[in-house]
Amino acid sequence: MVALARTPRPQPQSADTSAFEDDVLAGLRTTPKRVPAKYFYDGAGSQLFERITELPEYYPTRCEMRILRDHAGDIAKLIPQGAALVELGSGSNKKVRIVLRAARKLAAYVPVDICGEMLEQEAAELRLDFPQLKVLPVRADITHQFELPAQAKAAPVRVGFFPGSTIGNFEPFEAAAFLRNAAHILGPGATLIIGADLIKSADVLNAAYNDAAGVTAKFNLNLLVRINRELGATFKLDTFEHHAFYNRERHRIEMHLASLKRQKVKVAGETIEFRAGETIHTENSYKYSIASLGALARGAGWQPAGVWTDAREYFSIQAFTLTGK
Ligand code: AVI
Repeated sequence: MVALARTPRPQPQSADTSAFEDDVLAGLRTTPKRVPAKYFYDGAGSQLFERITELPEYYPTRCEMRILRDHAGDIAKLIPQGAALVELGSGSNKKVRIVLRAARKLAAYVPVDICGEMLEQEAAELRLDFPQLKVLPVRADITHQFELPAQAKAAPVRVGFFPGSTIGNFEPFEAAAFLRNAAHILGPGATLIIGADLIKSADVLNAAYNDAAGVTAKFNLNLLVRINRELGATFKLDTFEHHAFYNRERHRIEMHLASLKRQKVKVAGETIEFRAGETIHTENSYKYSIASLGALARGAGWQPAGVWTDAREYFSIQAFTLTGK
């Protein structure tokens, strides 16, 4: 299961080092080679991702902010007075602020994130700016079951908020499992508001992941920097190249690191062999249509309740409600 953090941030190193080592070694021993995308986000990776969101070619963050600003009133209508708003994988609170400003009186705002330090910092900022709001952070992995605070459970209804197109970094079966888990956690009558990147021209997609300034390439290669530093590996950065392309059949951007030559690399004491041109698959970023995300959500018990897009239909905010049970 991919334990994705929607807004990138450093992974706690000491506790997770052995999981990191296990995952990296397991991924490099298999063919084709792969490393889970969640490991992009060490300190440097998180900063590089922030820079990606500001690149002219990388439209998702700007589009999503635009949609939230333009439709905050309508989106907020899906959040009844007295509801608890649960942000799944919170991180930066830039997006939820737009929703919080538009929403009626909430029972609580519950940011859920795997990084406790980031959670507390963001919660403190929100408490200052929204003094009436009960901010109840929960440290948890959103891909697993977790408990909501009593005040959120006692609210008449809970609304989940999952922006950033993080759903696109899950494999479809993981996205389905995430949606089922969200249904279980949010409970009867819940609403879920998801930000999802849309299928579009391959040119626009390829440009977004191959920016002219090379920031995405640096972000991808930083994974090797991290493996070198944390697992004592010997990757030579100038012998690997960033490859990103749109796979039309599977509606996903694939990111890889391609070895420019035949070589051996030591990772945590183990020798890993690369053929010339062999790649490490580092990320998938799935693109959805309104219909395909709707179908996935329906399969997990959610009914479509609203869709908002930008004028070019590059990005979507989609709302679903849980009926029955
Ligand atoms: C975090 N996630 C939604 C980004 C994406 O577009 O899939 C990660 C990213 N990878 C390369 N550029 C951005």
